[in-house]
Amino acid sequence: MTVRQLFVTTALPYANGNFHIGHIMEYIQADIWVRYQRMQGQRVYFVCADDAHGAPIMIAAQKAGITPQQFVANIAKGRQPYLDGFHIAFDNWHSTDGPENHELAQQIYLDLQAAGLIERRTIEQYFDPEKEMFLPDRFIKGECPKCASSDQYGDSCENCGAVYSPTDLLHPRSTLSGATPVLKSSEHFFFKLSHPKCVDYLKAWTQDGKLQSEVANKVKEWFTPNEAGLTGLSDWDISRDAPYFGIEIPNAPGKYFYVWLDAPVGYLASLKNYFAKGGPAARGESRSFEDFMTSPDVEQYHFIGKDITYFHTLFWPAMLHFSHRKTPNNIFVHGFITVSGEKMSKSRGTGIDPLKYLSIGMNPEWLRYYMAAKLNARVEDVDFNPDDFVARVNADLVGKYINIASRSAGFIGKLFDHRLGALSEEGGGLVAKLQAQAASIAQGFEEREFAKVMREIMLLADQVNAFVDLHKPWEAAKKPELREELWSTCSTCIECFRLLSLYLKPVLPQLVSEVETFLGVAPLCFEDAATTLGAGREIGNYKHLMQRVDTAMLDKLFESDAALVPAVGAAKTSNTSNTAVRQDPIAKTTAASDPLAPGGEAIAAEIGIDEFSKIDLRIALITACEAVQGSNKLLRLTLDVGEDNTRQVLSGIAKHYTAADLVGQLTVVVANLAPRQMKFGTSEGMVLAASHAHEKDHPGVFVLTPWPGAKPGMRIH
Ligand code: MSP
Ligand code: ZN
Repeated sequence: MTVRQLFVTTALPYANGNFHIGHIMEYIQADIWVRYQRMQGQRVYFVCADDAHGAPIMIAAQKAGITPQQFVANIAKGRQPYLDGFHIAFDNWHSTDGPENHELAQQIYLDLQAAGLIERRTIEQYFDPEKEMFLPDRFIKGECPKCASSDQYGDSCENCGAVYSPTDLLHPRSTLSGATPVLKSSEHFFFKLSHPKCVDYLKAWTQDGKLQSEVANKVKEWFTPNEAGLTGLSDWDISRDAPYFGIEIPNAPGKYFYVWLDAPVGYLASLKNYFAKGGPAARGESRSFEDFMTSPDVEQYHFIGKDITYFHTLFWPAMLHFSHRKTPNNIFVHGFITVSGEKMSKSRGTGIDPLKYLSIGMNPEWLRYYMAAKLNARVEDVDFNPDDFVARVNADLVGKYINIASRSAGFIGKLFDHRLGALSEEGGGLVAKLQAQAASIAQGFEEREFAKVMREIMLLADQVNAFVDLHKPWEAAKKPELREELWSTCSTCIECFRLLSLYLKPVLPQLVSEVETFLGVAPLCFEDAATTLGAGREIGNYKHLMQRVDTAMLDKLFESDAALVPAVGAAKTSNTSNTAVRQDPIAKTTAASDPLAPGGEAIAAEIGIDEFSKIDLRIALITACEAVQGSNKLLRLTLDVGEDNTRQVLSGIAKHYTAADLVGQLTVVVANLAPRQMKFGTSEGMVLAASHAHEKDHPGVFVLTPWPGAKPGMRIH
């Protein structure tokens, strides 16, 4: 079988904010597919990038008093903890402002121009006379020309749903300056999408059966003139006037590409950047980026959400085809995630903050499994329902799958010296049944029918559990005469557990890598479904692999806790290093105008880096915690700071935390503070926590926790 070469992307997120749960859902969907392909031995190049350009980012950066480059760099810094935290294994992360994208976007444009598809036209647009810039539709507000409702955007009315152009608005004003915009003419560049050769090409490209049927049908509507005033494909305005954060149009001073022209080119730019770094060569790809991209054996797939279908099924293939480049093999469109049936809101309190999910100790693989259990290959919205989440994780994932190992592995270890025995005919039959499902499960993954695959796997787990219930190992263990049957039952369970783990591996990469260690097997791939461990095989010690969801965690996740969102300028509660990135960069600058000092106290006198580096801050794991007799303030913490011995630290946080909150958590400790003799014992360090200077009026003490991934003993620089 030849190895497939798959170039896979997710949509490039706008670099004007941190990831929300919608992004994470898209990445999980694509990551599962990619991991499945890799388990089949295919070679995958999975890349993404920040979508850096456009007027909103330029304006946000201006408000924050920094350059757009600094602004997007701040956002980029915050990406990795989300990706690591949810086990999203991109091969490369880049930016559409990188040099590769400038070069590629300009070259594609020149090729389109040579193909006769670029036209210049002078148009009239609203211009902000104070800011001296043309205004994007979203930065103009006024009264709706249809229903006269006030405060409506320049492109459509939120009250009556009318769609219009900004010049139709009554009493228009610029949201940037408040000034009344004036009409000004300017020359724009258009991509002639309405050219018959474009229309014919795109009709064929979108209607040849590759696209999901709902997508193909939607696209068909866009070709057809209708009463609502749609005229079929119209030419696409691809230029913007300076000032604009974007890529300059060649031979056209002061003109920039509209962000959506260079954004998808960012897919190619990120891949090119990955080639430049030597990633593909290290994995045995000897071709250059240019050769790779023109090779007919390379398949190209883009995972996107439904809202950006137009750009990916019309503009993007047209840009590629008419610049004589390879077009995508397919576009995989997903629906939106809703939370308890409601549209996700970006303001805090609703929706799910992915980092909060991680920081309160929720297992990322619960979410991966839950998403997998809900996602299919259609463009349907996916609802996150807390009760459903708990039920699926606890009853299915833990109750059915993990349970198989926890019901059998202990006996193999204790009673059979960690060795598997021979299977009965019945047991062998069950294992064969699970093996026989491999092709159907593989097909389900390939077709992105993840919900169907999860159902199939759980049905198999049901059969294994029924087998366990029938043979009752816990009873057999009490009867020496049933020793052989017990051995065979438990060995069957372990064989089945291995197969179910293999099938779940694209969804649960971390857990299954622990299963591989426990079983003492090489990383599982799909062809391993045809094999078994076999009698005589030695396995390791079983450690419980996954906890159940505690419903209190979900309460915490949805709690709109002011405590977790400190006042601007105060230290973060749950993270040490990400203050700058998690905060809205715009909010940060408003802190300067706050009459109160940040956190209620003035910033301390300046120090140099030498002075800072005298303080040795380390990551510590809280391994134990107890109340201190005779003190209602202090807790006695035992800390693992990566040294031979643990340390004891007395910390004045007893009013705010219990042992249950703290044990097992990572925190930050001042590790080179001279030990302090206190009434209740010696304290060998100090745990860091944030609080307001006027704690009475601003209650709360917040112990610091690092990003996921930090290990005890790591120094904080
Ligand atoms: N920057 C553009 C994409 C350029 S691709 C060349 C963009 N960015 S985005 O940050 O707004 O969205 C990124 C992806 O997240 C898109 O695929 C979008 O559909 C997806 N989602 C945004 N909100 C979502 C949900 N609520 N649910 C699921 N996916 C959602 O668009
Ligand atoms: Zn209206």
